[in-house]
Amino acid sequence: MEKYVINGGKPLQGEVDISGAKNAAVAIIPAALMVDGICRIENMPQISDTDMLLTILTQLGAEVRMICPGTIEIDSRNVRFCDAPFDLMRKIRASYYLIGAMLGRFGSAKTTMPGGCNFGVRPIDQHIKGMNALGAQVDVRNGFVYAEAEGGKLHGAKIYLDKVSVGATMNIILAATMASGRTIIENAAREPHIVDLANFLNSMGADVRGAGTDTVKINGVERLHGGSYSIIPDQIEAGTYMVAAAATGGEVLVKNVIPKHLECISAKLRETGTIVQEYEDSVLVKGNGHLRKANVKTLPYPGFPTDMQPQMGALLCMANGTSVITEGIYDNRFKYVNELRKMGADIQVDGRIAIFEGGAKLTGAPVMACDLRAGAAMVIAGLCASGKTEIEDIHFIERGYENFVGKLRKLGAGISIVDYPDEPELHEKVISIG
Ligand code: EPZ
Repeated sequence: MEKYVINGGKPLQGEVDISGAKNAAVAIIPAALMVDGICRIENMPQISDTDMLLTILTQLGAEVRMICPGTIEIDSRNVRFCDAPFDLMRKIRASYYLIGAMLGRFGSAKTTMPGGCNFGVRPIDQHIKGMNALGAQVDVRNGFVYAEAEGGKLHGAKIYLDKVSVGATMNIILAATMASGRTIIENAAREPHIVDLANFLNSMGADVRGAGTDTVKINGVERLHGGSYSIIPDQIEAGTYMVAAAATGGEVLVKNVIPKHLECISAKLRETGTIVQEYEDSVLVKGNGHLRKANVKTLPYPGFPTDMQPQMGALLCMANGTSVITEGIYDNRFKYVNELRKMGADIQVDGRIAIFEGGAKLTGAPVMACDLRAGAAMVIAGLCASGKTEIEDIHFIERGYENFVGKLRKLGAGISIVDYPDEPELHEKVISIG
């Protein structure tokens, strides 16, 4: 079993390069299924979620070639509709994008109900609503999702989403790309990774307009041709390093970012007294060791991202004064609070609201990563705490952060991955440093 072991108390110093956006990549890989040619994709984050999806595509018959680290080619021309590796699909949330892509390519799809981080009920009713509107019969039974386009091909439709949903917006875009006629999605999500998916599809010959606004229009095309594309930098990975720099009182230049995508995070950090300087493709974050309290409410983009909520929670434990976080997207995204309490944090949770009595002097402890971003929060807390913190279940963290330990060690963090064999009596052995 692998753990992170962190000896905290050192301010992060130096530069960090941000990788490609996970939540764009996990939609772009399924989108490549629809391309009648070779897709060359650059800035592909090397994380377990993308590895999993690329394996699924390979098992569906696609050819996936690594050109160099971060650059791959996908050739889906020989993909045949068949039962995909359901054991892999069930492990990640983004497997639902295979529904839209398969319907777009084959007119039918069979996937598992999606997996992913468990912080409350995560239905896919808006996805199904969209597919039904496009002319697909969708059945969910025995943990599988079966979809069949009437007459073998989807048709355009006007769809009003009852809820702003990133996944449903992207899935409907995928399915509508090669439907006959025009599709309009109203009340669409506006995240940067939705724009990135649309730009990828358009570079392959699709006609998607308005992505990034709440109304997206897709004119179906007959075919998608091959081409090249580079994925945008990861807004949440960048935000995580920004918060870590602020929380540890360090000074970090976060490089290869789009500052516009980080505006809500930068603004919130400035509220805590942190200096954030924006440049063309980087932001400089200077902590000052005396964090002010701040209140956070997570909202769809361009509001404060829910995927940055746990990381801010770790920081606010140490801020002076009482801070309040209101989780506006999920029912139960405060499971990490219990882990922070083990390190001395004073936090009260009531439903979607958490109250942080700041000023905590965190102390190292054995803790768990409850999910991907909760795990990142525990790393930030460990970096700030005095003494040693051990974090188990780091597989969650490895899903969304490329070379997390290596990048943090380059910033001076005292962090390493240690393998603890299952037998407790055996001594721990260090298997890798960064
Ligand atoms: C995506 O999840 C991201 N995952 C999540 O990031 C992120 O937290 C979320 O968007 C919000 O930004 C991927 O992109 C793979 P939603 P998704 O559909 O698509 C409800 C991370 O840490 N809803 O925007 O599942 C839903 O329950 C992960 O990288 C419905 O009710 O999010 C939630 O309350 C965690 N019906 C809200 O809408 C639906 O059909 C927003 O969900 C779909 C969603």
